[in-house]
Amino acid sequence: MTNNDNVLILGSGGQIGTDLVYKLRTDLGGDRVIAADLKDQEGYLKESGPFYTLDVLDAQSVADIIRAHKVKRVYLLAALLSATAEQKMKSAWKLNMEGLFNVLDIARELGGLRVFWPSSIAVFGPTTPRVNTPQYTVMEPTTVYGISKLSGELWCEYYFKKFGVDVRSIRYPGLISYKALPGGGTTDYAVDIYHQALDKGSYNCFLKEDTALPMMYMPDAIRATLELMEAPSDDVKIRSSYNLAGISFTPEQIAAEIKKHIPEFAISYEPDFRQAIADSWPQSIDDSRAQQDWGWNPQYDMESMTKDMLMHLKEARQSA
Ligand code: NAD
Ligand code: SER
Repeated sequence: MTNNDNVLILGSGGQIGTDLVYKLRTDLGGDRVIAADLKDQEGYLKESGPFYTLDVLDAQSVADIIRAHKVKRVYLLAALLSATAEQKMKSAWKLNMEGLFNVLDIARELGGLRVFWPSSIAVFGPTTPRVNTPQYTVMEPTTVYGISKLSGELWCEYYFKKFGVDVRSIRYPGLISYKALPGGGTTDYAVDIYHQALDKGSYNCFLKEDTALPMMYMPDAIRATLELMEAPSDDVKIRSSYNLAGISFTPEQIAAEIKKHIPEFAISYEPDFRQAIADSWPQSIDDSRAQQDWGWNPQYDMESMTKDMLMHLKEARQSA
């Protein structure tokens, strides 16, 4: 990236976008990081740099912003996540696929753009080996979201091979963060639990106590994203999407970790439709290709993440 290259973040008001905009505006300066979201925003996102209210399904407007701001990096974060996608099947497919096609087609037409598009552990399904799930394995997702992510991965690879579009992708695990709330996924419990622990001292979990899922703390996820985006092209050998691992844990284990800080904290369990989604996903991920190709190495474990989450959430409550 040169000093004049600008960045566009589509879906910037969500869980990942909130952290990504903050990190990039801190590093590059507010003016170089253009944020856009379907929903109007207030506060930091709008005040610290350019912000557009924009639908990613409106390809012309996306292209106009890219041209007007001389954008060279696009992060496409707008999507419907796993739980919401099961409830809104057709609109999830439309947003998750057409949004991606719009950005890939713009990149193909304009040339010189680098695109980041996130995939997910949801590309795997019940027939996939669930422990240490390899990069290349059986992929038969049984959720609307997983089907859209697997299709998206294949299209990313196709646009790279056929048209030379420099698109890069990570299969994020469930992400845990304190700046913004999650937007309708199956792993959302692992964020809600911290908020409820502080606000109510108890949490009623929608997954069973022994449901292990791959997770990651947001600072690691943001660092992985930027490391992949800045890796030399030749090092990015996988153009579908990279497996990425952080921490794997169950609701029971994270509750025990929180209890070390809030001894009176109590958890109960009331599994709902999201249990079936979680049961179809891996429990842990083998990310050796990301380690080999672009040097990935996570920093946070459950202990350091919990300490940091509780500290930031307490600070936010004190200053509110
Ligand atoms: P989120 O739901 O928190 O945020 C999505 C944002 O997109 C929202 O601010 C929403 O208003 C915006 N949006 C929705 N429709 C739009 C449209 N038509 N045009 C413009 N903006 C629109 O999601 P997130 O957690 O930030 O996830 C971002 C991406 O990362 C998604 O592709 C998601 O599938 C992927 N991902 C997330 C996780 C996770 O745990 N958060 C894990 C794996 C993959
Ligand atoms: N965290 C996401 C979800 O639960 C995984 O992609 O939908």
